[in-house]
Amino acid sequence: MLYPACGRKILREILVSSAPGTTGPGTTGPGRLYGVGVGPGDPELLTLKAQRVLGQVPIVCVPQSETSQESFAYTIARQFIDPDRQRVLRITFPTDDAEGAAQVWRSAAEQLAQELLQGQDVAFITEGDPMLYSTFSYVLESIRADHPDIPVEIVPGVSSVMAAAARAGIPLVTHGQRLAILPAVYGIDDLREAIANYDTIVLMKVNKVLLDALVNLEKLGLAGKAVYVRRATTEQEQVVTDLQQLSEKDLDYFSLLIIRKGD
Ligand SMILES: C[S@@+](CC[C@H](N)C(=O)[O-])C[C@H]1O[C@@H](n2cnc3c(N)ncnc32)[C@H](O)[C@@H]1O
Repeated sequence: MLYPACGRKILREILVSSAPGTTGPGTTGPGRLYGVGVGPGDPELLTLKAQRVLGQVPIVCVPQSETSQESFAYTIARQFIDPDRQRVLRITFPTDDAEGAAQVWRSAAEQLAQELLQGQDVAFITEGDPMLYSTFSYVLESIRADHPDIPVEIVPGVSSVMAAAARAGIPLVTHGQRLAILPAVYGIDDLREAIANYDTIVLMKVNKVLLDALVNLEKLGLAGKAVYVRRATTEQEQVVTDLQQLSEKDLDYFSLLIIRKGD
């Protein structure tokens, strides 16, 4: 049996509790922190939810790396952000292995916390998905530890792994197969072990180690089973199946390798 009036009330409560902007200056309680995945590059791959959240929050936090001039995430999401109406808060983050990185992440999280505690909603944008090798996870950890009252909502995005598989036309895994996603693993023993235990391996963050990885894949007889995907879904996209074509000029942070053990 349906209870239309009751159903409407419940629906309203769900919408209100998940809508951005329900907190803000003048209301009680902190703002909401959104971790928003903006996808792998093509703005059409931003989810409807990501677009809605980005359109509604007063502050968009853009993580920048120390080395690049413009944030890739920002270039993807730019058309959904209005700097005349929204504050774009750029924060520079060090790489994982940089000395003192943990302290920098913590103070960046604290900077965001101060905005949130004033009742402002903040969307932290991240390329791909926010829960896969993302700076957002460091911020999330600090906010949860130091400010457990700040509500957090994570908006998943299309990861580069899924985008690269789609652009290369390779099913990542089927039936009972096993998939491993590894960061910058390229040593021959690591690769041998990975391929012994998994049917498909995705090597991310390969740029600095790409050429060594290629040599080792060749030694393991896997070169013919790997595909290199660079800047998937962008205008600079490159999908390379003949890995011998690759050289130093192809080293690009936004690239990955998919290795399929195959038949
Ligand atoms: C810090 S991780 C971020 C991963 C991201 N959160 C995701 O879900 O795709 C950065 C790595 O993701 C991969 N990557 C990100 N965007 C890519 C793209 N458009 N094409 C190929 N690889 C990409 C590269 O391996 C890069 O080194």
